[in-house]
Amino acid sequence: MDSLLIKGGVPLRGEVRISGAKNAALPIMAAALLTGAACVIRRVPDLSDVRFMGQILMRLGAEVRFEGDTVRIQARQIKGTGDYELVRKMRGSICILGPLLGRLKKATVSLPGGCVIGARPVNLHLKGLEALGAKVTIKGGYVEVAAKRLTGAAMFLGGRAGPTVLGTANVMMAATLAQGVTVIESAACEPEVVDLASFLNAMGARITGAGSPTVTIAGVRELHGAEHEVIPDRIEAATYAITAAATGGEVTLCGARPDHMRAVIDKLNDAGVVVEANHSGLRVRRGGRLKAVDITTLPYAGFPTDVQAQMMALMALAPGISIITERIFESRFMHVSELARLGADIEIEGPSAIVKGGRLLSGAPVMASDLRASAALVIAGLAARGATQVNRVYHIDRGYENIDGKLRQLGARIERIEEA
Ligand code: EPZ
Repeated sequence: MDSLLIKGGVPLRGEVRISGAKNAALPIMAAALLTGAACVIRRVPDLSDVRFMGQILMRLGAEVRFEGDTVRIQARQIKGTGDYELVRKMRGSICILGPLLGRLKKATVSLPGGCVIGARPVNLHLKGLEALGAKVTIKGGYVEVAAKRLTGAAMFLGGRAGPTVLGTANVMMAATLAQGVTVIESAACEPEVVDLASFLNAMGARITGAGSPTVTIAGVRELHGAEHEVIPDRIEAATYAITAAATGGEVTLCGARPDHMRAVIDKLNDAGVVVEANHSGLRVRRGGRLKAVDITTLPYAGFPTDVQAQMMALMALAPGISIITERIFESRFMHVSELARLGADIEIEGPSAIVKGGRLLSGAPVMASDLRASAALVIAGLAARGATQVNRVYHIDRGYENIDGKLRQLGARIERIEEA
């Protein structure tokens, strides 16, 4: 398993190109299952999760061809079973359920199971598909959904932590080929949901209200092929913005969309970081001493849970006390003990972490546990004195395209140690 060796203490400077959004690309690739015609998707990030989704679609019978950051998918004839071996490796693949049900009126997909950040049930996905008339059966670790026909319906899709992103995506995709009108209340408003709706509308769907808590889908008889460019990755952009601030550097995030990052920019400003929109995207630099700020993760347009760990690494450097509260996932503090290995002073109290910031961090070997936790360890390692080795970086390759190459471009002393 590869690891990253980082020699910290260098302010990062220069420009970095923001890749396409992983969390938009995955459901958009799955949506290509809704038609037998060819779909061309551009600005698809080169990530292990994306390549994995490609394998899942091929296993279902689709033709999938990657050319640079473009993927061409044609699902002429497909089967309706997504097998355990594949789906268990990537939770996001649950988003094949809706398109398979929409297209074939039946689907059998392995239940994804929990992960280190939380139990991650799919009850809301199933509630929504049931409301469209599907019969849902859970057997042998698989969920089977089937219906003679799908009929549009009104439903409330909010849960314990508010809306569900992939649940909204799954129901929206199935409803495009249902008879009649579907109204989803408490729909997720994430930009990735809006991007998926734009792609579906380009395929001939009739979706309105995406990006608001009420999404309306007027079903159509069939969908056709389409071309689409995926939105830039706001989580990757936020990660590089925080990296610039943590190292005391100045970085331009080429292609970043400030309108997708308001909550993050607002908190960075409060923390004394200057974030300016310009013609190429966003310019980020430290505007003096860092300040401690409190963070509570919320559904979009609130502060994203996928930036919580990275922001905690920054707050470990900011003099004062900051309270970071995780409201979306029950156990998303795996990075706390690893940040402590670098010298950070953080205590967990229920859903909150109390960060006593302002200490100088010093390098050490640390272990990545999940995608965003590993990004936080890289940020802390870049800000620390001495050398940090981040192990199990396969976690980071799932969601960050060529992270060590992009960081070196900004002047970071980072190298990938490939294990034989
Ligand atoms: C998406 O996951 C993202 N993944 C996650 O990003 C992100 O953290 C999450 O949305 C929240 O923003 C992809 O898009 C591939 P949810 P998703 O359903 O859709 C509960 C990353 O780092 N819930 O919105 O699986 C759930 O347990 C990843 O890139 C139910 O209770 O998340 C959680 O507490 C990590 N029942 C909350 O809702 C359900 O049926 C939000 O989960 C579904 C969800």
